[in-house]
Amino acid sequence: MFTHRVVAALLLGVTAVAAVPAAAAVEVEGATNQKNACSTFKQKYPDYTFLPNSPGYIWETQGHYWSATLAQSPACVFVPQNENHVSWAVSTLTLTSTKFAVRGGGHMPIPGYNNIDSPGVLLSTSNLTTLTLSRDKSVVSVGPGNRWRDVYAYLQPSGLAAIGGRVGKVGVPGLLLGGGISFYSNQYGFAADNVVKYQVVLASGSVVEATATNSYSDLFWALKGGGNSFAIVTRFDLRTVKSPQVWVGIAQYDQSQAQKYLDAVYNFGKYGSLDSKAAIIPTIVTFPGMNVTAYAAAKFYDSTVNNPKPFENFTAPNIMTVADSYALQPLSTYIASTDPLQPDYLRQEFRVMSSIVSRDAVQLIHDTFLSQVYAKLSNIAGIQASLTFQPVTKEFIRQGINNGGNPQGVDISKAPYFWMVENWSWTDEADDDTVYAFAKGITADIMKMLKKKGLAADYLYMNDAGKGQEIFQHYPPANLARLKQIRAKYDPLKIYTALLTGGWKVSQA
Ligand SMILES: *[C@@H]1O[C@H](CO)[C@@H](O)[C@H](O)[C@H]1NC(C)=O
Ligand SMILES: *[C@@H]1O[C@H](CO)[C@@H](O)[C@H](O)[C@H]1NC(C)=O
Ligand SMILES: *[C@@H]1O[C@H](CO)[C@@H](O)[C@H](O)[C@H]1NC(C)=O
Ligand SMILES: *[C@@H]1O[C@H](CO)[C@@H](O)[C@H](O)[C@H]1NC(C)=O
Repeated sequence: MFTHRVVAALLLGVTAVAAVPAAAAVEVEGATNQKNACSTFKQKYPDYTFLPNSPGYIWETQGHYWSATLAQSPACVFVPQNENHVSWAVSTLTLTSTKFAVRGGGHMPIPGYNNIDSPGVLLSTSNLTTLTLSRDKSVVSVGPGNRWRDVYAYLQPSGLAAIGGRVGKVGVPGLLLGGGISFYSNQYGFAADNVVKYQVVLASGSVVEATATNSYSDLFWALKGGGNSFAIVTRFDLRTVKSPQVWVGIAQYDQSQAQKYLDAVYNFGKYGSLDSKAAIIPTIVTFPGMNVTAYAAAKFYDSTVNNPKPFENFTAPNIMTVADSYALQPLSTYIASTDPLQPDYLRQEFRVMSSIVSRDAVQLIHDTFLSQVYAKLSNIAGIQASLTFQPVTKEFIRQGINNGGNPQGVDISKAPYFWMVENWSWTDEADDDTVYAFAKGITADIMKMLKKKGLAADYLYMNDAGKGQEIFQHYPPANLARLKQIRAKYDPLKIYTALLTGGWKVSQA
């Protein structure tokens, strides 16, 4: 056993050898190289291990991903039924030096971030679907196989919600490990600011629980936005909030309203803090092939009693709408009805940018985005591009600070902000390189222009980022140093950095 560990360590290019608890390691005797990681899985857990061409394998590798860019072929898929299976899997992968991926909701479209090719192994969270409410209903325990639509639907009969994603098919673990923007963020901060406990599998194979006050409080802090370098989370305990019904829906506008719409975006950015129950997602979608651009805004108000004031500039008579579905309904109803708006299995890419709240910034970003998309992507089959301005208030940032702080350490003194996400979807794999190069180029161009005018902001939201964007480099240097220290403490062999290959890694920043 000791030999296996040393071999694993050498293959990983590290010299420190951590103590792997005997209980975790005993099981994997005989697994000597990555070729037989899958046969070890299959032997020990035949019902939960799927080899290529089996129906389970096909279901796990094709049925779960939002973006077609994630189509990959792992050597096998392991579907743990509980945290002990995850622990066993991590030890087996470690001792066989097998690279692996972990899939939560499968929404992040970067190839390799939640799937992997052979000889890598995919750990699927499909069956880690715990959903339970504490007796006093103040905490909901959520397994990482859930998506936000599952969480909201589960809580709805109790008149409760959790601080989670705004798109139902987004998975719970990815959103939370990157911080997580929520409709409720102006009231409660990042989604991760509302986690009360993480149950995790450490790289050693130990299953532990981390809270703000126990002996894993450093790990608890790191998990609120430090990504996947620290542990595999097998249960999130989230505080619940009372939110039986909300006012929510999508307003749409045509191109003739563009300037008024951009005014409204700017004004919401500036005055959004006045009522922190209000949230908005303004999205501009363009179809260059058809020469059509549409403007939309998802409006959200966390109360059964409407307050039209925060949205006055997104509604008549200040702007003309083409349609508006804003209505009182349970959040879970809205989430279920909007999920189909994100069609599955197109090719997807997104990139993140951030600015201070400025009318000039809004115009510059809008104009540059549309003109470059039209000039350079019109011939891409099935191309759709969208640009979303996410207003981030001082209240949003303050909630995180009041709640013990998080690794993101967003500078409250320069808030409010816009955190923008650019999205592209297309249909033909042959166009991948063109779209990726374009996405990288336009994002760099826009950020350069913003910087030159003093309008850029520093923080970049991990969950909206594209491959190669620097994330941790924009966290406060002291926080990054602390993240690196915590990572080294809990995973000296770099299992979750070198073997779990996907994702943004603190040690590489
Ligand atoms: C997951 O759990 C369900 C029962 O909830 C079971 O029917 C199914 O076979 C399990 N899937 C795998 C891959 O283990
Ligand atoms: C695209 O639409 C805009 C206005 O909607 C119009 O001014 C422009 O001429 C159109 N371009 C083409 C190539 O049809
Ligand atoms: C709407 O826009 C006007 C400026 O046209 C601004 O004074 C007002 O505060 C805005 N309202 C809100 C709620 O943002
Ligand atoms: C755009 O990208 C963001 C990135 O986080 C994603 O959550 C969102 O679902 C995407 N929107 C669309 C319409 O594809």
